[in-house]
Amino acid sequence: MLTRNQIRALVNEHGHDIIEHEHMHIERGCYQHGCVTTFAHSLRVACLAVWFADRLRLWDRVDLRSLVRAALLHDYFLYDWHEWDNGDHRMHGFTHGRTALRNALRDFELNAIERDSIAHHMFPLTPTPPGYVEGYLVTMADKVSATRETFSLQRFNRPRLPHAGAVRRAATTKDKD
Ligand SMILES: [Fe+2]
Ligand SMILES: [Fe+2]
Repeated sequence: MLTRNQIRALVNEHGHDIIEHEHMHIERGCYQHGCVTTFAHSLRVACLAVWFADRLRLWDRVDLRSLVRAALLHDYFLYDWHEWDNGDHRMHGFTHGRTALRNALRDFELNAIERDSIAHHMFPLTPTPPGYVEGYLVTMADKVSATRETFSLQRFNRPRLPHAGAVRRAATTKDKD
């Protein structure tokens, strides 16, 4: 059985280019649930998805690399969904899987498992279920992590982050350079 450190090493091994991508600055600057940023949430989901695959003994049916990459990118929507933003984020729960996929396709090469798992990770809130075991593991890890993060007592003293809009503008300006 994999230890916590071994799982973290596997996530780094298969996802280092995603973790180090410059657009991850946006995820680092936005809270997702409670006091956990979208970046930290995505890392947690990746580690937990690998833990589930390991404890459920699914390694003959799961592609580890696709699982890690889909989990790291499942919330790659790159905005702060708590901001009102003229109502643009009102349907966030229903639309952000597709937005994450669109952004991820722009920045990375993705296989069919990764694409499907990112797009459908909000099932059953969105109607189409994942088409691969990896997608179910991401969905399951996401629900467990989100619930833990939302109800953690630490949420009451979260530090101030650089404003997401400023982070996003900085990233966009850099893109144009
Ligand atoms: Fe999500
Ligand atoms: Fe998530």
